Amino acid sequence: MSKTTNAGTDVDRARPIDHQMGHEFQGYGHLTKRPIALSESVVRQSVDNLNQVLADTITLRDMYKKHHWQTAGPTFHQLHLLFDKHFEEQNELVDSLAERIQMLGGVSLAMAADVAETTLVPRPPKGREEVPVQVSRLLHAHEIVLEEARSMARQAAASGDDGTNDLLVSDVIRGNEKQVWFLSEHVVDVPLVRAD
Ligand SMILES: [Fe+2]
Repeated sequence: MSKTTNAGTDVDRARPIDHQMGHEFQGYGHLTKRPIALSESVVRQSVDNLNQVLADTITLRDMYKKHHWQTAGPTFHQLHLLFDKHFEEQNELVDSLAERIQMLGGVSLAMAADVAETTLVPRPPKGREEVPVQVSRLLHAHEIVLEEARSMARQAAASGDDGTNDLLVSDVIRGNEKQVWFLSEHVVDVPLVRAD
């Protein structure tokens, strides 16, 4: 009798407790104060700015994967590889930006629907587009990120948030500028076989 009872108890304890519900313990847009010697207004400005550049970076990252899958033509192989390399580099930026927001005491954007509501990068069509159009879309998205990141970096420096300034300058701006170089050389109209 007691053995059966014990066996039954053990089975119940091993059962995963799923379908649990609860309240958010930190809502989006709310800050939790951390002892990092920055005022709440400085942190709020940095978190808001970082969430904007995060949304645009997630969108740019995902556009690279779309183009990695959907590209076509004589440059298929090199662009297929290049787009995936840039996707991975943008993915690193996404993680650094989101974790910077959390370490400042904010809440980072994460899910696609929330990103779509926030991003300034125009939505591309679902179908396949020619290589020059793919490259042009990516260049435009990079320029949006670069323009906002430079302005946000200056704001962060002026308000004393050196960590945010460093992330924006050293990683976001330098990384995006390098990717723009590699991309833009693909839409320079030079002869492939015979010189002009
Ligand atoms: Fe792949």
